Amino acid sequence: MAKRTIVTMPGDGIGRIVLPEALRVLRAVGFDAEFVHGDVGWEFWCNEGNALPERTIKLLEEHKIGLFGAITSKPKDKAEAELDPALKGKGYVYYSPIVTMRQHFNLDICIRPCRSFPGNPLNFIRRKGDGFEEPKVDVVIFRQNTECLYAGVEWTNPPAEVRRALETHKKMKAFAHVPSEDMAISLRIFTRPACQRIIRAAFDYARQHGYKSVTICEKPNVVRETSGMMELEAKKIAAEYPDIQLWSVNIDAMMMWMTKNPEDYGVIVSGNMFGDIVSDGFAGLVGGLGFAYSANIGPEVAVFEPTHGSAPKYERLSPSIVNPIAMIMAAAMMLDYIGEKEKADRIERAVAKVVAEGKVRTYDMLRLPGGPDVFRHGAVSTQEMTDAIIAAL
Ligand code: NAI
Ligand code: MG
Repeated sequence: MAKRTIVTMPGDGIGRIVLPEALRVLRAVGFDAEFVHGDVGWEFWCNEGNALPERTIKLLEEHKIGLFGAITSKPKDKAEAELDPALKGKGYVYYSPIVTMRQHFNLDICIRPCRSFPGNPLNFIRRKGDGFEEPKVDVVIFRQNTECLYAGVEWTNPPAEVRRALETHKKMKAFAHVPSEDMAISLRIFTRPACQRIIRAAFDYARQHGYKSVTICEKPNVVRETSGMMELEAKKIAAEYPDIQLWSVNIDAMMMWMTKNPEDYGVIVSGNMFGDIVSDGFAGLVGGLGFAYSANIGPEVAVFEPTHGSAPKYERLSPSIVNPIAMIMAAAMMLDYIGEKEKADRIERAVAKVVAEGKVRTYDMLRLPGGPDVFRHGAVSTQEMTDAIIAAL
């Protein structure tokens, strides 16, 4: 069989530091693939007016699987100011390459696992009697990645025809006296096929990975149409999975339950906005940005990435201090996705072993302020953390 080819897109800042670490682990676990580099990030915006060049899109079209580090995004005026003078005034507009990638390839299924590694000092703990207990969090969030409030259909000072169309709804009477220039509208759009795809993906994952429940995390009692559609479709699809329970918890209630009993939940499904919220919430219970990773999966292409950004303030520190675990776990998730489950499990077990032993910890795990002197306080470098994980393989 032809070797697989993986498109590696380190991007900016610490993306360029952590992605090579993940490749070291992939090689060490015996994953026999070719890695081709894809240009993405700020430098390509400045020099070419496009942070996601067409040649990188072509690579993803051809090879289907991508590993992404992180990119730097800046506000519109800053982006414009840093553009090559030869390109200025020619109509180039900055768009975030990861958002563009999600839209271009319809990467509508975002999966964000939030699993605590026993022994991680950043884990959620709960007071019990005179002591504490540390419940095991093992949650996988399925976030619809392309619709909802993030579809970008919004106005400040909506045009008259938009206003007229909205006034066909009787609840708009409450806003009849508000001048359009004092009105901002962001549209929450859900479509039935996208709801079905994310819900089905969640149930399939639950079945394949042995989770006993799928929880819809929306707000159908108030946001009746969109959250309601998600819940309705979930009920229909759940009938095909009698071995898995369907629960429904409102997003606000979930914020309470996750800080009381996070161990009760397995697979969670949400629309884009609530999925963004609930996944950051659970990530905070299992170690935060050094441990949070995700997959963006479309019908053809899938891209795996840590949740963190490019952390520019640490990009030039040498040796590097940032935690490579989020990126390494993103690579393990990629292996699981392409059917290399045994190798994925080995990486996860190696990370678990290093975390449990507690001898090797990056600055974030020690709750140190980041900076060059973290090593004096017992932190290891990015590369030393990877070395320990490779040794544990
Ligand atoms: P960030 O995630 O880059 O960093 C925030 C802070 O989290 C860092 O200063 C550091 O203290 C900590 N941190 C991040 N990654 C870490 C790691 N691997 N190990 C240990 N600590 C870590 O977010 P920030 O500073 O808000 O954004 C920086 C740039 O990244 C911006 O240009 C932003 O637009 C971009 N960004 C890109 C994302 C992506 O590529 N998907 C996601 C989030 C932000
Ligand atoms: Mg977020």
